Amino acid sequence: MHVLVLGSGGREHALAWAISKSAKKPKISCATGNAGTAQLGANIDLDIDEHSEVVDYCKAEKPDLVVVGPEAPLVDGIADHLRDEGVRVFGPGSGGSRLEGSKIFSKGFCDDNGIPTAAYKVFDDEERAHKYIDKQNIGLCVVKADGLAAGKGAIVCDDVIDAHSAVDTILTERKFGDAGERIIIEDRLRGFETTLLTIVSGSEYIKLPYSQDHKRAFDGDKGPNTGGMGVFAPTPKITAQLDELITNTIVEPTIAGLTNAKIDYTGCLYFGLMITEDGPYLIEYNCRFGDPEAQAVLPLMEGDLLAAMEAAIDGNLRDVPLRQTGKKSLVVILASDGYPDSYRKGVFITDDLKVLDDDPGLIVFHAGTRKQGRDVLTSGGRVIAVTSLGDDFAQCRNKVYDTLNNLKLDGLFYRTDIGHELITV
Ligand code: AMP
Ligand code: GLY
Repeated sequence: MHVLVLGSGGREHALAWAISKSAKKPKISCATGNAGTAQLGANIDLDIDEHSEVVDYCKAEKPDLVVVGPEAPLVDGIADHLRDEGVRVFGPGSGGSRLEGSKIFSKGFCDDNGIPTAAYKVFDDEERAHKYIDKQNIGLCVVKADGLAAGKGAIVCDDVIDAHSAVDTILTERKFGDAGERIIIEDRLRGFETTLLTIVSGSEYIKLPYSQDHKRAFDGDKGPNTGGMGVFAPTPKITAQLDELITNTIVEPTIAGLTNAKIDYTGCLYFGLMITEDGPYLIEYNCRFGDPEAQAVLPLMEGDLLAAMEAAIDGNLRDVPLRQTGKKSLVVILASDGYPDSYRKGVFITDDLKVLDDDPGLIVFHAGTRKQGRDVLTSGGRVIAVTSLGDDFAQCRNKVYDTLNNLKLDGLFYRTDIGHELITV
């Protein structure tokens, strides 16, 4: 069996790694992949934003399954294009991907289906947005670009000045291009965040363990927002009671809403949640696995991810033997100095990587890396995810940080407080 994974980040390495463990012993290709996925199979030089390149490859090589990692091609309808050509795809079509591709659509979807989410207003006119902020004296709020903005399109505001400046940034200056043609100004919720990844097949779904991402660049949740600098899973604060509440008030109505809207969703659906004093709220949907959540959650699963993906496509998820192991996981991201702003590429990380790779207690997922002969060089902002599995979080945390503390890590930085709160409280 031949599986093609589209994407080149840590999430895609984790997906390829989990798929490679399948009893079906698949051959794996990754487009375009990284130095990590190159250890699992062939890296294929395709521009995945050019759907015709992927379609042509599939016509020639006939992979049995295509797994789409990132959101942009999904929102652009790559899954529809491939299905039209008879290719089996794990990933939603453009209809389902609108849940991530348009915040305004996802807010409307929540309204239609009674899913708790922050109160909001939509604007496409800057004057009206500024007037609204002044009139309502909106201070604590979040201003969001409607479209895809590489995870950077939400600006969390503390006061009126912040809110005005966020409107300028997104709507007037168009920092996120056309994604900022329309904006949402929504109430800022207080609570703790958690991610729930689900595998969805129409009206059926499987929940994977809850996880907790760390989006800010620096320790203490300081600094700019990033794609995610570390994760732990499962989120200990999610009790069985809270899980039931989330399932009943958010997950089930979402699945029912998709069915009612005649959206046949096949793929991972990501629920970004805020657990407030008034209960759980939906902050965002994503139409794919989280990055770096996948690097924490997939290693916690026992069973055959590839079989689960195929079952999702075939509409018989109920029989899938995918279980949680009961272990804990903790992921620390090594990022290029300067990320998420400008950073250097082409830094040699061969020696540090060898120490990490040789450590049986760690799983190393590559993101922005590339091979040059026998060497591995950095090629992106987030470079490596180091995952530790253990029976408790203290064990995971000690393992990762004891190892990282002894490395040189030239040109890279990492947060030193991932999972800190789990140990000290
Ligand atoms: P989003 O792009 O919608 O996921 O937002 C990115 C991040 O902004 C989230 O992970 C939260 O940390 C924060 N955020 C978004 N919406 C809200 C909200 N309504 N209240 C508080 N924080 C939010
Ligand atoms: N880690 C956040 C995301 O994947 O969107």
